[in-house]
Amino acid sequence: MKKTVKFYILSNLFHFNKVINTMNPIRKILVTSALPYANGSIHLGHMLEYIQTDIWVRFQKMRGHQCIYVCADDAHGSAIMLRAEHEVITPEQLIEAVHKEHSSDFADFHVNFDNYYTTHSEENRYFSELIYSRLKEAGHIANRSVTQYFDPEKGMFLADRFIKGTCPKCKAEDQYGDNCEKCGATYHPTELKNPRSAISGATPELRDSEHFFFKLPNFTAMLKEWTRSGALQTSVANKLAEWLDAGLQEWDISRDAPYFGFEIPGAPNKYFYVWLDAPIGYMASFKNLCDRTPELEFDAFWSVDSTAELYHFIGKDIINFHALFWPAMLEGAGFRKPTAVNVHGYLTVNGAKMSKSRGTFIKARTYLDHLNPEYLRYYYASKLGRGVEDLDLNLDDFIQKVNSDLVGKVVNIASRCAGFVHKGNQGVLVSELAEPALWSSFAEAAPSIADAYEKRDFARAMRETMALADAANAWIADKAPWAMNKIEGKQEEVQAICSLGINLFKQLVILLKPVLPQLAQQAEQFLNVNSLDWTHLDVRLTQHQLNPFTPLMTRIDAKNIEAMVEAAKEDLQEMDNQPAAEPNELDKNPIAAEINFDAFAAVDMRIARIEKAEFVEGADKLLQLTLDLGGEKRNVFAGIKSAYPNPAELEGRLTACVANLAPRKMKFGISEGMVMAAGPGGKDIFLLSPDSGAIPGQRIS
Ligand code: MSP
Ligand code: ZN
Repeated sequence: MKKTVKFYILSNLFHFNKVINTMNPIRKILVTSALPYANGSIHLGHMLEYIQTDIWVRFQKMRGHQCIYVCADDAHGSAIMLRAEHEVITPEQLIEAVHKEHSSDFADFHVNFDNYYTTHSEENRYFSELIYSRLKEAGHIANRSVTQYFDPEKGMFLADRFIKGTCPKCKAEDQYGDNCEKCGATYHPTELKNPRSAISGATPELRDSEHFFFKLPNFTAMLKEWTRSGALQTSVANKLAEWLDAGLQEWDISRDAPYFGFEIPGAPNKYFYVWLDAPIGYMASFKNLCDRTPELEFDAFWSVDSTAELYHFIGKDIINFHALFWPAMLEGAGFRKPTAVNVHGYLTVNGAKMSKSRGTFIKARTYLDHLNPEYLRYYYASKLGRGVEDLDLNLDDFIQKVNSDLVGKVVNIASRCAGFVHKGNQGVLVSELAEPALWSSFAEAAPSIADAYEKRDFARAMRETMALADAANAWIADKAPWAMNKIEGKQEEVQAICSLGINLFKQLVILLKPVLPQLAQQAEQFLNVNSLDWTHLDVRLTQHQLNPFTPLMTRIDAKNIEAMVEAAKEDLQEMDNQPAAEPNELDKNPIAAEINFDAFAAVDMRIARIEKAEFVEGADKLLQLTLDLGGEKRNVFAGIKSAYPNPAELEGRLTACVANLAPRKMKFGISEGMVMAAGPGGKDIFLLSPDSGAIPGQRIS
């Protein structure tokens, strides 16, 4: 009994795997989440969607299906163009930096895309042009002149949210172009009193321009049928029925230059509206993946007669784009339509809309700096149903639920049992598991849990799984192996109990693996098994060697939540998409001798890359730096030698640099700027990390 038999058992597992898969028809499934805008950070509201989708995809993969999960950054539109302009970088540089940031946020939350691409790609240009030209040929495109506000200073037409003025109803000042936040009125921008451009402040003028329209009404009959075909949740279909009955409008799909996007073929200075090419980005991301994956064939998933399944996961704010415009575009251009569009509600935190000042507008990265991503994955799963209701992240409930369920129930089983198996039997599970009835009750519960996952009723899947964990814990508590172990002659029974305990733990790990991939991986290491999938529910680990047990998950400490909320308050300013700080806020800064806002605004602070860093002969504090400000080179003397006695370490690193400081003649040469570094001085002076995503030349003041 004390022999290691792991190789025998592992080959057994593999054998089982093959048997099951041949009984299970393999589905081809393509899954997407909405493409996040490339002009801001991912926050916990977004994460609700990506975690929901990722859990569903991981479940399908564990079941042996071919399930492909693609996404991308939504990289076009005027917001991105203006944000890049503000930072004095090109839109391409902005979207590249954001792509890096988004990718690492998702990876760190264990969101496992098969491809995370961008809509600013050649594949997307190709499919956007293809779909547009097919729609045009089929007579689904119209053009006519549109009158709109134009900013004469900026030389661009203004989207509604870039116009501000006085509400025509309640006379509240400073309201956006299409609705009033004070009284809730909605109106046309031309109805605003004293309109002005939110970009330049200029008074806008009305101008005419030709626009292209997608003739959505041509697809009314198809949409009435498709929205009722089971592709949508009932409440979503009902909402759409109201719009369909009221009559659909033609959809404006063009924007005038300047615009960051794809120019419309044959129409110089006209661009596809970002919402035209965004959903096409799903196709483009998949195509990009196909092109480097021999076994994937684009047409098998997108042709009109495709038998593959196609699912889009989205939030409730973008239903019309996915359940009206998108199926109509696909139909009109001769592609298949989605199998289903799965809509989820909005995230609230502590019962209210996420709030920057309360510290509940939490960026993905801010969360990750303080907490384990699997806590949130589990909490969301435990609250996500099939509906479109909003979901509340209550921070006290979050601590309580994670600590009690994951740490108190699931991990507890393994930590209770592992010690006895290691001490009493050298870590080898015995061949006789106690209590076959308990083992069978787990097996009987599994199909219902699978069904809940399949239907996206993760709350039910978690509830039913935790009920099993409760049963296992209650049984172990009842048997009390810790007491039994002290009784002469009971050691064999202790091993039987604990071996069953570990086996039940393995079952729970499989059932939770779509939600907790990291915990599952650590558990696999402890259990000494290869990657677990759903078929391994049928495998008992007997005569099996375990690896040493290390704690799998620790409790949430309320202190970490507090620290996260504080940090969220701090990064609130950064998060604004239009980062212009209010002058009076800066005037209030008590840290240094006051300067007025104009003086501050005059500082042109930029990101610089330290290209070369060298000693200066005869200077004991200075280093001579050659900076790259996005193409432009500067020579700067900086007093940071004490922190960097080996200047080569600095090469390639990024720093902030005052770019418009008048050149100063120093003893050793002319210094053409000043670098910023933070820290206590002496040996520790901090620069930006080379992978911070900052771009040389980018303006940061
Ligand atoms: N770029 C568009 C989507 C184009 S899809 C072809 C967009 N981007 S977004 O960044 O604003 O949102 C991305 C997804 O996150 C959307 O499905 C949106 O509903 C979801 N969420 C954004 N904020 C959210 C919450 N606070 N709560 C839940 N989901 C949220 O829309
Ligand atoms: Zn009003």
